[in-house]
Amino acid sequence: MENKELVIVYTEYDSLQEMPQADRQLMEAAMEATKTAYAPYSHFHVGAAVRLADGTILRGSNQENIAYPSGLCAERTALFSSSAQYPNLAVEALAVVGFHEGAFTEASPCGACRQVMSEYELRFGNEITLFCYLAGGRIRRITGVKSLLPFAFDANL
Ligand code: THU
Repeated sequence: MENKELVIVYTEYDSLQEMPQADRQLMEAAMEATKTAYAPYSHFHVGAAVRLADGTILRGSNQENIAYPSGLCAERTALFSSSAQYPNLAVEALAVVGFHEGAFTEASPCGACRQVMSEYELRFGNEITLFCYLAGGRIRRITGVKSLLPFAFDANL
């Protein structure tokens, strides 16, 4: 028997201004995307943006439905849209932010979105860097879904 330990390494920026330009632009695209959220039930607007291997940035936002489970998170809206439009381009990075009661707020991908991120990593053979907006305008950067979804399912099919 052996007890093991997982270490998660991540970075926090104090503000958008501290980020490298390309990453700041990605987060700004996610912030812009909150404006297209359709969230009449939760009133929690989420914006996401993905950056593809060629630098293309695509946006997504949460899309709710009166039959609640039929809605979709901003992250999966952006990821699925990128795959539908650019099926051969790897997803390099994903940014996510919430907007609630007139202000940007913290958002972090749910378990289902992490599972979908995991599939894109497997599919294209690269790690995805995630940027999450945090309280007070800080930004968390974390690379690799293995840190977000340890021991993820892989059927090796
Ligand atoms: N939501 C997202 O879009 N992304 C997340 O990371 C968490 C939650 C959405 C789902 C729902 O429309 C609203 O936020 C409130 O849960």
